[in-house]
Amino acid sequence: MRIHNFISKPARSIKGEITVPGDKSISHRSIIFGSLAKGTTIINGFLDGDDCMATLKAFQAMGVNIEGPDEQQVVIYGVGKYGLEKPEQVIDCGNSGTSIRLLAGLLAAQSFDSQLTGDESLLKRPMMRISKPLTQMGADITTVDGKPPITIRGGQKLKGIDYTMPEASAQVKSCILLAGLYAEGETRITEAGVSRDHTELMLKNFSYPVHRSGNTLIVNSESECIGTEIDIPGDISSAAFFIVAATIIPDSDILIRNVGINPTRTGILHILLEMGAKITLLNQRQLGEEWVADLRVQYAPLKGIDIDPNMVPLAIDEFPVIFIAAACAQGQTTLHGASELRFKESDRIAAMVDGLKELGIHANALDDGVLIEGGTLHGGIVESRGDHRIAMSFAIAGAVAKEPVTIKNCVNVATSFPLFVETAKELQLQIEETVYNVQ
Ligand code: S3P
Repeated sequence: MRIHNFISKPARSIKGEITVPGDKSISHRSIIFGSLAKGTTIINGFLDGDDCMATLKAFQAMGVNIEGPDEQQVVIYGVGKYGLEKPEQVIDCGNSGTSIRLLAGLLAAQSFDSQLTGDESLLKRPMMRISKPLTQMGADITTVDGKPPITIRGGQKLKGIDYTMPEASAQVKSCILLAGLYAEGETRITEAGVSRDHTELMLKNFSYPVHRSGNTLIVNSESECIGTEIDIPGDISSAAFFIVAATIIPDSDILIRNVGINPTRTGILHILLEMGAKITLLNQRQLGEEWVADLRVQYAPLKGIDIDPNMVPLAIDEFPVIFIAAACAQGQTTLHGASELRFKESDRIAAMVDGLKELGIHANALDDGVLIEGGTLHGGIVESRGDHRIAMSFAIAGAVAKEPVTIKNCVNVATSFPLFVETAKELQLQIEETVYNVQ
């Protein structure tokens, strides 16, 4: 067995400039729409982490000629909406919920059969949220007790549905939108709450019409995606670790260049600013349909807050590291309305509360959130549960803890941020990796 741990030691103030890797959500979508497009697509700033590589390999397995990534550039020779070929093997999505849910929507509409699977974590994640609407559209899709592996029988004629989503989920929305590109008649999706809108924006980039009427998105099958050039901004979800690091380590002052600030993703900025953080957005500009900025983050003392539940979908992936900020704040921070955190790469409420308690913080897990009492972080050994964002969050906690923090099982950091440790070192954070084999 291979052991992959982090040891994070107390750090002095961090200063300097960094960039973070390309946005994970946008990278997945660029491969999907580039493959379905007519003509060539050039992608710059692609995230070559394991998750997006799983999506890229899936399309190669379906006969798409994809070159790269080479210095974050990928070139896709699109096969058109009806040009995918039956993959010879089961598609392995690894750790990636985005790959499996978006691919399921697309594959449900193909003429061939397919099967999707993943790693131990993915096999535990709920898929009824996609199999239900896809079945309503006429797909033949089977799960194992609502979880992967997913088996899809191709050759079904899909019809558009009018679907109101019970959860605010961009993966579910995107899954149905993808199936809707092939369905007879209109597909209408009404969102319960705002979720990230990268699929809608990217459809526009690829000249595919998508209409919005209030909270309802409407697509039909009458158009084609046209190849294009995509510049992917840095991932705010990866920047989040350093935004919190600079905020909680006294005397810090950093600049993170070229970070995506799509308003459906900036919940972390709103939450931290309300807690007292000092974050300035510089040089705001547009990259295609997406907005980016350079973020200046300076140390600031934080106070605990009751997090607005409307922020939950806008900060869904950043809560682990927001909880580290809460542990360093004066007073209590509460979060409600976030039960979705229990269905991510791990149960993030349980993983974070257990780890924070281990480091000496008073934290309570609630069914739909947490209660954290700010205090002094101490050293200890925490379990990441194989979840990349839990691992990186506790690595940041180690920078302000009184003694070193060991974080176990960090191999999946490579799913979203392969150069996390190197980037941390650029800022003089004291995070080391230990990798060894045991019998
Ligand atoms: C994602 C959507 C979110 C997020 C995930 C990426 C996407 O999941 O947590 O990391 O790329 O669409 P949900 O849509 O299930 O909330």
